[in-house]
Amino acid sequence: MKYYLTTPIYYVNDSPHIGHAYTTVAADVIARWRRYRGDDVFFLTGTDEHGAKICQAAVRAGNSPAEFCDRISGEFRKEWQNLKITNDYFIRTTDQKHISAVQKFLGALHATGAVQKGKYEGLYCVGCEKFLSESDLVDGCCPDHKQKPVLQSEENWFFRLSDYQEELLKIITDDSDPRVKIFPVERRNEITGKLKNLKLENISISRANLEWGIPLPFDPGQTAYVWVDALLNYISAIGYGEGDGRFERLWPSDMHLMAKDILWFHSVIWPAMLLAAKLPLPKKIFAHGFFTINGDKMSKTVGNVILPKEMSDKFGVDASRYLMLSLFPFGADGDISWQALTDKFNTDLANNLGNLVSRTLTMVEKYFEGRIPKPNSTPALEEVINIGEFNGFFEDLKFSNIIETVQKHLNHANQLIERSAPWKMAKANDPELSTVLFELLIRIREASLAVYPFMPEIAANIWKQIGSDEDIDSEARAFFQGGAIASPKPGNAVAKSGSLFPRIIDKK
Ligand code: MSP
Repeated sequence: MKYYLTTPIYYVNDSPHIGHAYTTVAADVIARWRRYRGDDVFFLTGTDEHGAKICQAAVRAGNSPAEFCDRISGEFRKEWQNLKITNDYFIRTTDQKHISAVQKFLGALHATGAVQKGKYEGLYCVGCEKFLSESDLVDGCCPDHKQKPVLQSEENWFFRLSDYQEELLKIITDDSDPRVKIFPVERRNEITGKLKNLKLENISISRANLEWGIPLPFDPGQTAYVWVDALLNYISAIGYGEGDGRFERLWPSDMHLMAKDILWFHSVIWPAMLLAAKLPLPKKIFAHGFFTINGDKMSKTVGNVILPKEMSDKFGVDASRYLMLSLFPFGADGDISWQALTDKFNTDLANNLGNLVSRTLTMVEKYFEGRIPKPNSTPALEEVINIGEFNGFFEDLKFSNIIETVQKHLNHANQLIERSAPWKMAKANDPELSTVLFELLIRIREASLAVYPFMPEIAANIWKQIGSDEDIDSEARAFFQGGAIASPKPGNAVAKSGSLFPRIIDKK
C-alpha cells in the first residue's frame, strides 16, 4: 500500500528551530513505522521560499532573495540529515519543476472560471502572509507577530472559495467519506464550527506588486499568493502535470501533518482549490499542538529559541528525537524546558533503558563469560508489548502512549532483576539464573525494536551489544507486522561497549 505523508514546507525567513523539528521528527517516526509495517512510503518535506516575508528577510540579511533562500533552505536540509530524517524528497518552491506545476494548476483553474479579477482592500500581516480582519487584531497589531498589518489595496485575482463552503462541510463531517478527515477531534470541531457559522469570502490568490513569486500564466504582471504557491508543493513534488505516472500513483496524500496554526489553509483552502480543479482530496489532516518554552512563546525577541543542534549536542540525536515527542501528548499544546527534557532523559533513557542494558550485559559477562546462556527452562514472559494496541498508538499518532508502553515494558524488566536478584542466584548456583538472563535479553530485544522508529542508531547499537546477528530491519518488520521475532541465540557473544546514555547531571 502506498502511503504519502507530508510535513509543512517551512519558511526560510529563519533558521530551523525545534518547532520545525517537532513536526518533522514526528513525521519521520511515522514514516519509519509505516515502512516496517510494509507500506510503500513517500515522505515529503521542504521549504517555502516566496513571498514578502522571505523577501524582507533577504534584504535584512543583505542577500538577494535567491541567495538567501539557497542558504537557509540548505540549513533545513542539513538539519534534517543530522536528525536522521528519512524524507524521500525535499521540495523547494523555487524549483523550476514546482514553478511550472503551479503555473499549470493556476492556468487550469482559470480555465474553469473558478478565479476572477477584483479589487481588494484589506489589512495584510506579512508575518502571517495573510489578510487579517479587524476582530483578529489586538491593540491594532497582529497578536502573533505583534506588528501592525499594512493596508493593501490592489486589483487581484480571486478564487471563488465561497462556492465550496457547503460541499466542504459535507465532506468533512461525513465519516463514511474518506476525504479530509481532520484530527484530533477538537480541531475538526473548530473547523466545522467555522464552516457552519461563517460566510466564507473569496480569497485573493495573487499579488500585483510583489516580484518574488511565481508569475500567473494568464496575467504575468501578477505573482501567485505565497500560500497558494506553497500548498501546491504537495502535488508538484510528485510530478503533477509531468505525465510520468507518479502523481497518479501517489495522489491523494494519505496524511498532511502540521501544527494547528495552519490548519485552516490545509483543511479548507487547499481542499477547495482541489475541488475546483477536479482533483482528489487529501485523506487525513493531523494538526498537533503548539508548544511554549518555560511558558513563553518561542521567539527571537524573547531569546528563548531552542535549536535542534543545541538539543542534540546535549542529549545526542537519537535521544533528542525521543525527548521531543515525549513531554506532552501529541495534538495537545504543551511546554518544553531544559529541566523537563533533562529529567526525562535521566529517567526514561539513562536510568530505565540504559541501566537495564548495562546491568544485563554485565551479568552475562560475569556469570556466563559474555555468552548468551541456554535457558534452563522456558521464560514466563508475561506482559510483553501488545503489538495490536502498540500499532494502534502509531496509527493514531499517540506518541505519549507509545513511550509509556515502552517505559512500562522496561520497568517490568528492571523489576525482574530486582525480584529475582541474579547475584544471589549466582552465589547459590541456581540453574534458573540462565532463564532470568535469557528472559532479560528477550525483553531488551523487544524494547530495541519498539524504540527503533524513534532512536534508530541507539536501537541498532543495543541490538548488536546483546549479541543479535539478525538484521534489525527485518526483525523490526516482523515485530511491527505482529509476527514472531527471533529469540536470542545461546552461545552468541554479547559486547558491552560504553554508556548508551551518559547521565546528564547539569540543569541548563
Ligand atoms: N510555510 C508555511 C507552511 C506552508 S505548508 C504548505 C509555514 N511555515 S512555518 O515555517 O511557519 O512552519 C509552521 C509549522 O512549523 C507549524 O505548522 C508546525 O508544524 C511547526 N512549528 C513551528 N513552531 C512550532 C511550535 N512552537 N510548536 C509546534 N509546532 C511548531 O507556516
